[in-house]
Amino acid sequence: MIAQGGLCAFPTETVFGLGADATDPGAVSRIFEMKGRPADNPLIVHIASVKDWSLAAQELTESASKLLDAFAPGPITVVVPRSPDLCEAVSAGLETVALRIPSCEIARSVLQQAGIPVAAPSANRSGRPSGTTWESVLEDLDGRIDAVLCQNSGEHGLESTVVDCTGKNPVLLRPGAVSLDDLRKVIPSATVHSQVPTSVAGRSPGLKHPHYQPSAQVILIQFSEVAGVQLAVPQATGHSAQLPTQLPTQLTNVAYCGLQPHSSHESLAMHRQFRDVKEYAREFYEFLRSADRCKVDTILCQYPGPEGIGSALQDRLQRAAGHK
Ligand code: TXA
Ligand code: MG
Repeated sequence: MIAQGGLCAFPTETVFGLGADATDPGAVSRIFEMKGRPADNPLIVHIASVKDWSLAAQELTESASKLLDAFAPGPITVVVPRSPDLCEAVSAGLETVALRIPSCEIARSVLQQAGIPVAAPSANRSGRPSGTTWESVLEDLDGRIDAVLCQNSGEHGLESTVVDCTGKNPVLLRPGAVSLDDLRKVIPSATVHSQVPTSVAGRSPGLKHPHYQPSAQVILIQFSEVAGVQLAVPQATGHSAQLPTQLPTQLTNVAYCGLQPHSSHESLAMHRQFRDVKEYAREFYEFLRSADRCKVDTILCQYPGPEGIGSALQDRLQRAAGHK
């Protein structure tokens, strides 16, 4: 289907991708249209194996090649000079391409059989939480795409680590399951996007658009605040006498997720305590979506520590909360 110009969503070890032939301008423009994606936000191009890199890239820089040796196939994306065979819209006018080799067996077999470079952004309407189940993909895109492979994967649950490998030192543009520490074990000079001059901000146009936002308002809370009972209006107004009548209605429309249990457990519309930060990351987007399905107004999310995939989760939480 993809080789014939169609749009097919498939699972990967991160989130579902919405795949199309990266050399077919019609198919690529349908991706932007069906997602409602701004045209200045380039797409990641997926290939089955590192040795096929020339399908999408003009050159594998030294740092890209080192990072792919260490982490591919897997949740890493390297930005390198693009091949002229790709259609221009894939790169949104940049001279580079974001290249990824997923480890998920289903994704690999799709890519192998297609035999072409496959542009695949996350399979969600632009701005919404990424889809980590096929049901969520259909929730956003049913009627707009040709097919979805109905098999869930999503070992990591958050999108791949994106690293700009075009300059002297690799620059982490989007955190993911491969952490900055992991990158530095391979290339010690690797740096993060926020630590470099703003001139490189233009290198990852996706960073400026709103992302991962459910309809409900997301509020981030720190570890120490999780135990606090008066998380809604009563405390702020100081009318503690009204607590018994106000609290239940205030909390009826509140969801909570985090690593600690919330002490207002009983009054919350939804309460989810994750076993560890890996499970938090893996199920975060689905929790946001299920909270929207239950029509909650507010989602309280505990802010995790930066260990492991924690820093990627911190990034997605901040975006889901609109940086507020
Ligand atoms: O895990 C993932 O990476 C998933 C799965 C499907 O592979 N894909 C994904 O794609 O998250 P998307 O389109 O949702 O995010 C792509 C990110 C955006 O932030 C975009 O700006 C950035 O990669 N990007 C794409 N091409 C780029 C380029 N040439 N230079 C810099 N950033 C680029
Ligand atoms: Mg996305």
